[in-house]
Amino acid sequence: MSLIPPPLSLYVHIPWCVRKCPYCDFNSHGQQGALPVDEYVDALIADLDQDLPLAWGRTVHSVFFGGGTPSLFPPGAIGRILDAASARLRFAPGLEVTLETNPGTAEHGRFDGYLRAGVNRISFGVQSFDDGCLQRLGRIHDSGEAERAVKLAQDAGLDNINLDLMYALPGQDPAMAERDVERAVALAPAHISHYQLTLEPNTVFHARPPPDLPDDDAGWTMQERCQALLAQTGYAQYETSAYARPGRQCAHNLNYWRFGDYLGIGAGAHGKLSLGASGEILRRWKVKNPRDYLAKAASQARIGGEERVAPAQRPFEYMLNALRLIEGFALADFEARTGLPRADIADELATAVGRGWLSVDGERIVPTELGRRFANDVITLFLR
Ligand SMILES: C[S@@+](CC[C@H](N)C(=O)[O-])C[C@H]1O[C@@H](n2cnc3c(N)ncnc32)[C@H](O)[C@@H]1O
Ligand code: SF4
Repeated sequence: MSLIPPPLSLYVHIPWCVRKCPYCDFNSHGQQGALPVDEYVDALIADLDQDLPLAWGRTVHSVFFGGGTPSLFPPGAIGRILDAASARLRFAPGLEVTLETNPGTAEHGRFDGYLRAGVNRISFGVQSFDDGCLQRLGRIHDSGEAERAVKLAQDAGLDNINLDLMYALPGQDPAMAERDVERAVALAPAHISHYQLTLEPNTVFHARPPPDLPDDDAGWTMQERCQALLAQTGYAQYETSAYARPGRQCAHNLNYWRFGDYLGIGAGAHGKLSLGASGEILRRWKVKNPRDYLAKAASQARIGGEERVAPAQRPFEYMLNALRLIEGFALADFEARTGLPRADIADELATAVGRGWLSVDGERIVPTELGRRFANDVITLFLR
């Protein structure tokens, strides 16, 4: 069966940070000496050049510079990547271009430069406004620096700003989590991401969990109270961890959750492409180690792995994304994105509806509150 290609995004990975945080399992490496900025930009462009046949004739609807800490790269480097990408791919008018930023790397003048380079959305890794929590998380900035960084970006004219917060932090109680949200809201960002701290394998926190971690019930209380506070202050939840003012949802992440396509360039970057005529869905990822990537970016060896998503895997992969959304999904979208008929998931849907995990609203399948709480169980139903 052929697939109608969904919207396409571009993800650009920058794999360095000032210092590695003890909870983080992203492909990020503490900076040692000067970064090979120009060399890495050349590598990204060479990587993109070779991925282009996967995206012929298609329009890019969003670009996301993620990391690591992309704000370690100066505006000129970010501009060079964007210029190269827009010379090779058709950019939709007014497309969203996000740059992840560590507040400890923000400088005067830089935001101006990013804006001129084509960035129109900044995502700050604030994590908390409590200096004790920030220290226990091993962050390189305090709360004052985070507030100043956000104001610098706003003064430069960037109004589409996201703040990342984490909750269930060591030593945190629900009142502290609410205070973090209040201080975030006071900065009037367009978007707030509110992530529960998870102890990821291969991190320092996993090997040696910090003392005073809130238990599951306390974590759930924080989630509920913060969600209510965000709703009262004008930030509607639209995904498990994402809240936005009206019209300010993150277009790039929405495309992931709607099972859209994306090209991924950079060390360890993942891509997903629907190959229209053959009906195949290709996942491709790049070699992870930055040095390795730099050496291989211009050749086939840059590809760390590839797999085709078999039809039997697609319902699970689709649900893993779409059921994170408060709005759920339309059955017609399921069919268009997976190439499978809706009858293929009728039994699982009936079971989930019977258990009170999903509700049916005409064409739409919407997770209930219970379904959101037991999201893993719901998704597991679709595993084949
Ligand atoms: C790539 S980082 C954002 C930019 C920059 N690297 C920074 O940290 O300031 C992406 C976000 O993922 C979240 N994150 C990272 N590790 C996490 C974990 N173990 N549990 C929950 N959220 C996590 C943090 O909120 C972080 O801001
Ligand atoms: S949380 Fe951000 S700053 Fe910390 S190591 Fe991960 S990517 Fe780097």
